Amino acid sequence: MLYDEPNFPLTVQTVAWLPGKVSPIHNHATWGVVALISGQEKNTFWKRVNHQELSGEIEQVGEHILMPGDIISFLPDAIHSVEALGDEPTITFNLYGETNTAKAYLDSLTLSKMA
Ligand SMILES: [Fe+2]
Repeated sequence: MLYDEPNFPLTVQTVAWLPGKVSPIHNHATWGVVALISGQEKNTFWKRVNHQELSGEIEQVGEHILMPGDIISFLPDAIHSVEALGDEPTITFNLYGETNTAKAYLDSLTLSKMA
């Protein structure tokens, strides 16, 4: 954590993932900007089926591999998972807005329970 404010109106952090690690499917419930500093990171994108927020059903809608120097941004309703590709850890610089904690960090387990 590089910077944090009470009630999380703004978060600045660096994140490292070991090679081969895969995150749960999740959202952030806020906007975000992520820059890849080193390594290779695959982002897999998901969306809710039929746009029903209370439905746990999701489907994969795309993938994008980030290389060092690439920058990606997210809207609050974005759902993704990340995987560290290659032989070296990934390091990202992340900037997030104020998190809507009631809607944040849905993971695949939460999503399946909601289905
Ligand atoms: Fe994320």
